[in-house]
Amino acid sequence: MAHPAFPHDVVVIGGCGHVGLPLAVAFAEQGASVVVYDISEESVKLLNDGVLPFDEDGAAPVLARVVAEGRLTATTDPASVGWAENLVVVIGTPVDEHLNPDPHAIPRALQAAAEHFRDGQLLVLRSTVYPGVTALVERQVAALGREMDVAFCPERIAEGHAMEELHTLPQIVGSRTAAGRERAAALFSRLTAEIIFLTPEEAELAKLFTNTWRYIKFAIANQFYEMANDRGLDFERIRGAITQGYPRAADMPGAGFAAGPCLFKDTMQLAAFSNNTFGLGHAAMLVNEGLPLYLVDRAERRYELSSMTVGILGMAFKGGSDDIRESLSYKLRRILQFKAGEVLTTDPRVTVDDRLLPLEEVLRRSDLLIVGAPHPEYRGLAVDKPVIDVWNVLGNGVTV
Ligand SMILES: NC(=O)c1ccc[n+]([C@@H]2O[C@H](COP(=O)([O-])OP(=O)(O)OC[C@H]3O[C@@H](n4cnc5c(N)ncnc54)[C@H](O)[C@@H]3O)[C@@H](O)[C@H]2O)c1
Repeated sequence: MAHPAFPHDVVVIGGCGHVGLPLAVAFAEQGASVVVYDISEESVKLLNDGVLPFDEDGAAPVLARVVAEGRLTATTDPASVGWAENLVVVIGTPVDEHLNPDPHAIPRALQAAAEHFRDGQLLVLRSTVYPGVTALVERQVAALGREMDVAFCPERIAEGHAMEELHTLPQIVGSRTAAGRERAAALFSRLTAEIIFLTPEEAELAKLFTNTWRYIKFAIANQFYEMANDRGLDFERIRGAITQGYPRAADMPGAGFAAGPCLFKDTMQLAAFSNNTFGLGHAAMLVNEGLPLYLVDRAERRYELSSMTVGILGMAFKGGSDDIRESLSYKLRRILQFKAGEVLTTDPRVTVDDRLLPLEEVLRRSDLLIVGAPHPEYRGLAVDKPVIDVWNVLGNGVTV
């Protein structure tokens, strides 16, 4: 129920994004009255029409329902940040072109709407932030003279699984005050049963450690892949043997592009935080960002690339997704455009790239295929061309 002083329960700032939208939908599904505030006019319009701007499993029918029932509305009006007791901030927090974090991204976005803040509000930061940003925002709120509680409650869902994971993952709550802890816990208890309390600084590091841990695991798998492959050995056969019935290595991932808007960026945030002395983080970047170069280098040794047409299957940053942000398939494409005769691309899910061709045309016209994203649509695909398939999605091995 909305607090009597406010017409709505929750305003999600940046709520048209990949993280904000499923969250807004999930709160509305639980009965909350939710407003999405976003600067993207196009996405706001789509949302108010009950249409998802991107794929997210299970979200489309719920969005259509909560919009039709009047429980979720979207707006570009900054005054909307004064319309609810709970404000949740989920704007993007990318690193810049030199891999520097921008600790002011969130304070800047908040400043633009700050005149509409009201006493008694709870301000939850949910974007992944550079350590210290929660304290910066606490000072910002104090300088405005507002009586607001501030909490950092990181989002830990994997894109595509939000509608399930928002209800199954425990929620980390970091706030300096008892009121902030209680109110943020009460808010997220509407979605999930388990709340874990940390200080804001612990919570900020918890989120960065989580993503970096995953990024480094992918990097070691990719380096093992390259080591094995350089000796003509199939990493997937070796990994299969290692993980079979052996719990201590059961979480060893397969090789593949470790890309997307989060893992690399957050590893670089942590590197900057440790004054660029985070050797393991930078080493992981070298391996993961180097995989497309490695694959093309191996292909060049086996094939006359310069006279060949190469087709890339899958341009999204991961299998099953339509999201191309920071996709290594595009890096692969750039390298191949320099080395190969022609490069063709296809993807069954991506809708924002008009250079993509139908799968059938890419299969027919290409001399060599490289899997860029292991979409389920490619599983077991029968092709009569050589294929470089690090994920073994076609099932014919991973060596190149
Ligand atoms: N994508 C993921 O899987 C994932 C998972 C966990 C955490 N995160 C973190 O969540 C945050 C958001 O990521 P995302 O993938 O949803 O980003 P996104 O780019 O998809 O969404 C951000 C949204 O914020 C809006 N926006 C930008 N500036 C704004 C402003 N000043 N005022 C209002 N709206 C504004 C944008 O228009 C966009 O709709 C990032 O910090 C990211 O690291 C992402």
